[in-house]
Amino acid sequence: MTTEKMNLIEKLYQTHDLSDDGFLCLLGGMTEAETQLLYEKARLAATKIYQKQIYLRGLIEFTNICKNNCFYCGIRRGNTNVHRYRLGEEEIVACAKKGYALGFRTIVLQGGEDPYYTDEQICSIVRKIKQECPDAAVTLSIGEKEHDSYQAYFDAGADRYLLRHETADEKHYGMLHPAELSGAHRKRCLRDLKEIGYQVGCGIMVGAPYQTREHILEDIRFMQELQPHMIGIGPFIPHKDTPFAKEPAGTLSDTLALLGILRLAFPNVLLPATTALGTIHPQGRELGVLAGANVIMPNLSPTSVRKDYMLYDGKICTGEEAAECHHCIERRMERIGYQVVVERGDYRE
Ligand code: SAM
Ligand code: FES
Repeated sequence: MTTEKMNLIEKLYQTHDLSDDGFLCLLGGMTEAETQLLYEKARLAATKIYQKQIYLRGLIEFTNICKNNCFYCGIRRGNTNVHRYRLGEEEIVACAKKGYALGFRTIVLQGGEDPYYTDEQICSIVRKIKQECPDAAVTLSIGEKEHDSYQAYFDAGADRYLLRHETADEKHYGMLHPAELSGAHRKRCLRDLKEIGYQVGCGIMVGAPYQTREHILEDIRFMQELQPHMIGIGPFIPHKDTPFAKEPAGTLSDTLALLGILRLAFPNVLLPATTALGTIHPQGRELGVLAGANVIMPNLSPTSVRKDYMLYDGKICTGEEAAECHHCIERRMERIGYQVVVERGDYRE
């Protein structure tokens, strides 16, 4: 029997858009048969453009020092239980080289908003990585900066920038962040980055405290306007030392459903099956790929600091070496019929 939601899934697959009511209907939950149809169509949409290829991004979490105090985040300024660390330029470049030797062709530098690193230092790190790993892309994920700083990193060779918008709704943004941060500024950063020429990634946490279906609809409308190259979504997971310690985590089914919906709405987008998804379910990342994701971001940080970059409780892969993570993902993808490739994995038009 064909249901209304099945018709909506087919329409989204064909046209990449729905009315507000159509999206809200799909976001309201699906039966098993509807869910399976969504995943099937999402896989079809992804493989039409990216075949059964999975791109890896090697993540270097180079500082857990942050001047911000986001209510959900384990490394927020106000958490005094964190052992803080910073990696030096040489250590960062060494991690990148190690990743390159393992076959990573994208290096992601992520960290808290740590004023210790000047623009010149970030530029120098980017330049060195580009020198050592010439055919690799460099992605930055270091938060909100001024236009000129973004321009300088780009001129130094940075290719991509990840900055989740967290929620497109200004009021909801205010419930997740202290008053000194604004959703409007975060959106402006994303527009600046796009205008400069970066491949840009935005995104949200699924099941973030106070999130409603209407918020997710607003997120989709914002993304339609921004036209990002990447969309990072993963479940919200509480961290014991944050104001949201007692809030429930986002669910596997909601995250997978949103991955499927986003793949149909943005067929060309690079869509990671995130570490947070792997944290709430042992096969979370495989299930993410089977719901339309095509990117995985294994950890390249030195094992000595991994446990200190604890954004949420229970984060996986904090004990493994980079090589182990790489092989583990390769095997996991092979088992579900996908292949990890040694490529930059740029956005395909
Ligand atoms: N400082 C940079 C920034 O603000 O974009 C990058 C680091 S920040 C920790 C990276 C992302 O982690 C955030 O955009 C947020 O969505 C995610 N994150 C933080 N706390 C989380 C939590 N408790 N559960 C799931 N994801 C979380
Ligand atoms: Fe800055 Fe989380 S509060 S990285």
